[in-house]
Amino acid sequence: MKKAEKRLVLLGAGGHCKSVLDAVLRRKQYNKIYITDPDILRGTSIMGCPVIGDDTVLPKLFQEGVQEAFITVGSIKDTSLRYKLYHNARNIGFTFPNIVDPSANVSAFATLADGIFIGKNVVVNAGASIGKMSILNSGSIVEHECVVGEFSHIAVGAVLCGNVVVGDHTFVGANATVIQGIRIGAKSVIGAGSVVLGNVTTSFSALGLYKGETL
Ligand SMILES: CC(C)(COP(=O)(O)OP(=O)(O)OC[C@H]1O[C@@H](n2cnc3c(N)ncnc32)[C@H](O)[C@@H]1OP(=O)(O)O)[C@@H](O)C(=O)NCCC(=O)NCCS
Repeated sequence: MKKAEKRLVLLGAGGHCKSVLDAVLRRKQYNKIYITDPDILRGTSIMGCPVIGDDTVLPKLFQEGVQEAFITVGSIKDTSLRYKLYHNARNIGFTFPNIVDPSANVSAFATLADGIFIGKNVVVNAGASIGKMSILNSGSIVEHECVVGEFSHIAVGAVLCGNVVVGDHTFVGANATVIQGIRIGAKSVIGAGSVVLGNVTTSFSALGLYKGETL
């Protein structure tokens, strides 16, 4: 019997799309990958995959049997576009796979929700739990028993030591280090290179050496 075609649509054709696409292509899990983006000319090829228009093509694509979608716009201070694109695609009926680069080291004892991107050389250790639609970018480390909320982004090279909790819609910048047991509230921003030694409240920006209120 002929093997069913596996097809995926990526929403957003920018830099983050290229990181995700590289992982998808390495995995060789899909026969056909489409990309939507309102700002890129239809027919443009990105790493061999066609841009097929903006999001208005999604209902037709779903009717044609493409069932899986992945949000490939990134987020730093604002997750609202990722959130909007996710809800739009979910309402059409799409489901969201996890995309894990083959170089990542993810414990079998970690829990992953849906729509998560895990980039090159990421480590996710035992007992960690990653919320839906989160991004663990290249080289980040999520140590044992950490909890990362929904729609959060752990940027390149950031380190969450053991038992850290990161709220929903939160950004932890490149090369930031969060020491063990720290709680970071929802919708917070941790600047690139920060060292977080104390808890961070909701919707707060921590920059540089952050001792919080607990030390
Ligand atoms: C935290 C961040 C989002 C703030 O951006 P912003 O709101 O545009 O802030 P500004 O650049 O206007 O900086 C505001 C102030 O914070 C300081 N600041 C900004 N980022 C900082 C950082 N990471 N560490 C320490 N101080 C920082 C600036 O020097 C400036 O100080 P001043 O008011 O004394 O001049 C941004 O600097 C940052 O760290 N982005 C993360 C980039 C990253 O990790 N990318 C990886 C993507 S995978």
